[in-house]
Amino acid sequence: MVLNNPKGIKFYEMDFRKLKSTVIRNKKVLIRPLKKNDLYQLIKWLKDPEINKFLSSDFSELDTEKEERWFREMSISVNDFVFAIETQRERKYIGDCGLHKINWDEKKADFGIAIGEKNYWGKGYGSDAAGAVIKFAFMKLGLEKITLSVYEYNKRAIRSYKKCGFKKKEILKKDHLYNNIYWDTIIMEIKV
Ligand SMILES: CC(C)(COP(=O)(O)OP(=O)(O)OC[C@H]1O[C@@H](n2cnc3c(N)ncnc32)[C@H](O)[C@@H]1OP(=O)(O)O)[C@@H](O)C(=O)NCCC(=O)NCCS
Repeated sequence: MVLNNPKGIKFYEMDFRKLKSTVIRNKKVLIRPLKKNDLYQLIKWLKDPEINKFLSSDFSELDTEKEERWFREMSISVNDFVFAIETQRERKYIGDCGLHKINWDEKKADFGIAIGEKNYWGKGYGSDAAGAVIKFAFMKLGLEKITLSVYEYNKRAIRSYKKCGFKKKEILKKDHLYNNIYWDTIIMEIKV
């Protein structure tokens, strides 16, 4: 993966149209901009209880209209980048990831990811995708800190984030209710 470091780049000098169409090839995945055609599949993944239990939003009320509105907002936002994750070899669409709430003054963003194709879990695709997006954020966007939150029962995600270099920053004790049990939310971050 070759990305040039835009050291000292100014926000107003950034070419958002170009950045928004970024495609990154990493070892196992290809990261490309999310397309409207992806939304049907994405909604199915977000609503799947086996996936949704790991996500910070409840998507049970999500429908095509809401999702298309979200997609239009994301497409023009300079504070969000949403990507589709494809396998490098078969070019199969397997999930999504993104940078959100970018704070350009403080050079930081939130990170989110979901591999929707469950038989691709635990095979290195998520870590590869996260690694690519982190590098893009640091090298192309000039960000210096990325933060995420993960529930304590999501051991696979925690392991994957650690492999990418995220470190535990804060633990919100017993603040998430799932299956009638209160679980910790772990805040992790990675710095440039
Ligand atoms: C979280 C997610 C992106 C990780 O991607 P992935 O491709 O599955 O993860 P990777 O294979 O890159 O890494 C997972 C690691 O956890 C390990 N692992 C798998 N299941 C595990 C478990 N139950 N407990 C502990 N470790 C586990 C794997 O062995 C691997 O570690 P290793 O490479 O040292 O062997 C993906 O699983 C996913 O999208 N899950 C559903 C949605 C979700 O949880 N999103 C994140 C919300 S914070």
